[in-house]
Amino acid sequence: NSPEGAVYYLFGATGDLARRKLFPALFSLYKEGKLSEKFAVVGLARRARSNEQFRSDLYESINEFCRYKADDTELWTRFAEHFVYMSLDINNVDGFRELSLLSAELDEKFDIPGNRLFYLALAPSLFGPVSLNLRDGGLLESKGWHRLVIEKPFGYDLPSAQKLNEQLGQVFKEEEIFRIDHYLGKEMVQNIQVIRFANAFFEPLWNNNHIANVQITLSETVGVEERGGYYDKSGALRDMGQNHMLQMLTMIAMEPPSRLHGEDIRDEKVKVLRSLRGYKSNEEVRSHVVRGQYTAGKLGNKELSGYRQEDSVGEESATETYFAAKVFVDNFRWAGVPFYIRTGKRLPVKTTEVVVEFKAMPQNVLFAQKHELSPNLLVIRVNPMEGIYIKINAKKPGADNDVQPVSMEFCQSCMIGINTPEAYERLIHDAARGDSTYFTRWDEVSHAWEFVDRIAKGWREDSSDLEPYPAGSWGPAKANELLAEQGHHWWPVN
Ligand code: BG6
Repeated sequence: NSPEGAVYYLFGATGDLARRKLFPALFSLYKEGKLSEKFAVVGLARRARSNEQFRSDLYESINEFCRYKADDTELWTRFAEHFVYMSLDINNVDGFRELSLLSAELDEKFDIPGNRLFYLALAPSLFGPVSLNLRDGGLLESKGWHRLVIEKPFGYDLPSAQKLNEQLGQVFKEEEIFRIDHYLGKEMVQNIQVIRFANAFFEPLWNNNHIANVQITLSETVGVEERGGYYDKSGALRDMGQNHMLQMLTMIAMEPPSRLHGEDIRDEKVKVLRSLRGYKSNEEVRSHVVRGQYTAGKLGNKELSGYRQEDSVGEESATETYFAAKVFVDNFRWAGVPFYIRTGKRLPVKTTEVVVEFKAMPQNVLFAQKHELSPNLLVIRVNPMEGIYIKINAKKPGADNDVQPVSMEFCQSCMIGINTPEAYERLIHDAARGDSTYFTRWDEVSHAWEFVDRIAKGWREDSSDLEPYPAGSWGPAKANELLAEQGHHWWPVN
């Protein structure tokens, strides 16, 4: 299932994303034979750089970040020959005309049938102007396909996202636009649908008769690092909530699609987003969503400064670095089941995990007389551990009828010889094959913004609920109250 040959245009080729993710992803794909020899990559950025310098950046990036090393000289040399660099002022259409000429040469040299994939690792404000110049510079006139891959954030709120979408729509059709949400490229996120729809254990129980609540945690130990300028305008809700968290929620909550086709799956995901219960007032926002901001603290032995002391962050910033929300999906399957979602920077561990808590057995004439029975849990570990485990109750050996919770575990990341592909590998490969299943469609983006905008409005109009939490802690204690109201609590993550 190799894609047909294509030229890949990496806008932002001297940036961090290219170095950490995109170059390594291309190398892994090449090494696994998924790119064939019919491809070329044009690195594009304003800075002047020779092809040799560009290839040496590429080499360093691969040796630092790729799951394969560039230690086979012959293979490396062959791979690197496909890469060229061109300095480009993205506001000037003349450069795009030049790029068009270069593209024709590359098509010829590598026997590429005019297919073009434009990857914009750029600030979203540049997506519109670059698209127009791609068109005006003649890059969309080749006879193959043309696809645009763009990074988040897709807008700042619904109106700005609509505007951006209109700009792109002047040049590209919806099916030519691939909006990246890299969480959808993660193996274990894609595994959610297999676990759900391929196991008789789970699907019959996957509803409000049997599930008490679902918890989705995306915790990070890092602070905002060098991204204070971006993050201070964005905050956790926009940076992680609007995209990754709601996307994971849709994968857990969607109905089985009629076929495993991209559009069918995305149709089901949109239905979930449409069923999210919007908060109707600022009071409802406050009673369902907790937000926090880290202050100075300690992680292990490391002293950490507070968010407001980070570079490019305002001294009185009211931006949230943490939020937790109680979300309801108002449809037949999920009526009444809370989805608790939380994410934050400077939390004690880096993990992405979903916990599905099942309802208690009828309390429980047989075994619960002596002990509270633990509920059954299904835990899906996405990152950095990959796997699933279930918690069940079993007899304590040697005791009369004592019951203890035990785990049955499948640890994918512990298996020897498993070298899980990175999310970006999967996504670049999918875009090159024209498979948009794991990219977000415009209607998904817009419904997600609608939901998030209501929360943002509540916060904008009253910022008194921002809770400080020390770096290295699990966030504001108020996030526990969200669950306690319904007799639930956060399950500790591992
Ligand atoms: C990005 C956010 O989308 O996801 C970052 O902008 C965050 O703030 C990152 O750190 C987390 O991704 P991952 O794959 O490391 O969990």
